[in-house]
Amino acid sequence: MTTDTHYSALQLVFDTNVLVDALAARDLNGQYAAAVLDTVRQGEVEGWYAPHTLMAVYAQLETLLAAPKAYALVQELATVIKPLPQVGDELVQLDLPAGGRLDQMLSIHLAEDYLPNPLFVTDDPEFPQTAERRVVHSKLLAEQGVAPWQNPESRLPFIDLALQQRAIRPQLQRNIHRVLQHGQYILGPEVSELEQRLADYTGAEHCVTAASGTEALLISLMALSVGPGDEVITTPFSFIATTEVIVLLGARPVFADVEPDTANIDASAIEAQISSCTRAIMPVSLYGQPADMEAINAVAARYNLPVIEDAAQSFGAEYQGRKSTNLSTVGCTSFFPSKPLGGYGDGGAIFTNHANLAQVCRELRVHGQSERYLHTRIGVGGRMDSLQCAVVLAKLERFEQEVQRRQAIGARYNTLLDQAGIARVQQRPDRSSVFAQYTLFTEQRERVQAALQRAGIPTAVHYPLPLNLQPAYQRLCCPDCTPVAASLAQRVLSLPMGADLRPDQQQRIVEALTAAVNQ
Ligand SMILES: Cc1ncc(COP(=O)(O)O)c(C=O)c1O
Repeated sequence: MTTDTHYSALQLVFDTNVLVDALAARDLNGQYAAAVLDTVRQGEVEGWYAPHTLMAVYAQLETLLAAPKAYALVQELATVIKPLPQVGDELVQLDLPAGGRLDQMLSIHLAEDYLPNPLFVTDDPEFPQTAERRVVHSKLLAEQGVAPWQNPESRLPFIDLALQQRAIRPQLQRNIHRVLQHGQYILGPEVSELEQRLADYTGAEHCVTAASGTEALLISLMALSVGPGDEVITTPFSFIATTEVIVLLGARPVFADVEPDTANIDASAIEAQISSCTRAIMPVSLYGQPADMEAINAVAARYNLPVIEDAAQSFGAEYQGRKSTNLSTVGCTSFFPSKPLGGYGDGGAIFTNHANLAQVCRELRVHGQSERYLHTRIGVGGRMDSLQCAVVLAKLERFEQEVQRRQAIGARYNTLLDQAGIARVQQRPDRSSVFAQYTLFTEQRERVQAALQRAGIPTAVHYPLPLNLQPAYQRLCCPDCTPVAASLAQRVLSLPMGADLRPDQQQRIVEALTAAVNQ
């Protein structure tokens, strides 16, 4: 499968003649063409074809080989290289030069419309050239390899979502097309399919999708009857949504400080914050690593309190062999595009093993409706739509592989930073991280960020201000009670991270970082 491969920054677009030569094993050209195709098969580089090319290849192969053989070869080819997206009206927009070949012009149009860095592989000396278009003969490519054709990257992306999209484009198109066909845009079959797949993945008995991670948290708190006068114990070091939903319900966030090395809530600081008003505990599994859920659940059990894990950043991570989101009373995640399992818009999900709670959440997300137009609770418009579920379903096909890659990339960063003597977020041995962010600590953040920026390496700060120091929240909570969070907010810095980050890119990042830190 091409999705197993490690993609580089270059995309080969194959002309019909090269593919026919490679598959029919025709003369010397065939050997060169086959060698180029092998670089794609081995995951060195992406390979693409225009849909009509496949038909042309098949038609020509049929004249050279027995039909079943031709068919089998084309079938295998379609698992190695991917079709360029084609909506069908490209011919209308085509600007055809005199004397051009229609099949080549259409391939060029589709490739240049979608791919950021296409290299056309052809054995046709007449292939249309321009100053910007890069065209190569398969012999030259076979002899030189793809490296000389890879553009040196000037600026790295913080997260490369375009590359991931190219890897799953066919599944995405199929899934989106299915929704457009059946037209059930709200609570269509993709919604229950995704909920089932996510429940199976996490091992939780119930999954209820929601309009966003924020909405998932809000609905969970509502389902647990958190309201005015109540208190919810949470971390001050998170994205604002964690505390926002508490305040929106008229409850008060009470902050327990965080651990200095993981930035997750310090379980040993929770008990001191419990009062007669406490209704729930809401830890966040920050940067992709679960909080210490066993210790948190133990405190909660002593006071008969529910625990809501804000797992917006940690979907796919494990804690003592169990999946994040399935570690406590309720777990909530987010499908915000940059999250480990991100969609192409807003989305989220609630997980629980309590059937009653799941049912309440289901009703709350559709305006508290228990039957059509019968509103037995006060709810919200909080559904995730069918199109967004279709996108996340497509992403799920590559997800487990991406989790493994993220972990390998996180481990490589750890080694490189440890060698360079740069402090970083630590991972505990009884859990895994999906590295939603890869975060380090530096006392000279501004200077380091500026130096990395000059080197073309984007960085981000998660988060520059603890929640209890945010202007809108200061009056509601104790701003000075969490000194560790306040200190981390001055020192954290996140590096580019994603399942497709290459080792050479990581090397470049850490070299620039080391130079900046030691400046
Ligand atoms: C820790 C945390 N909680 C909640 C959210 C809210 O999720 P969403 O953006 O899907 O509403 C996010 C991310 O955006 C987050 O990182």
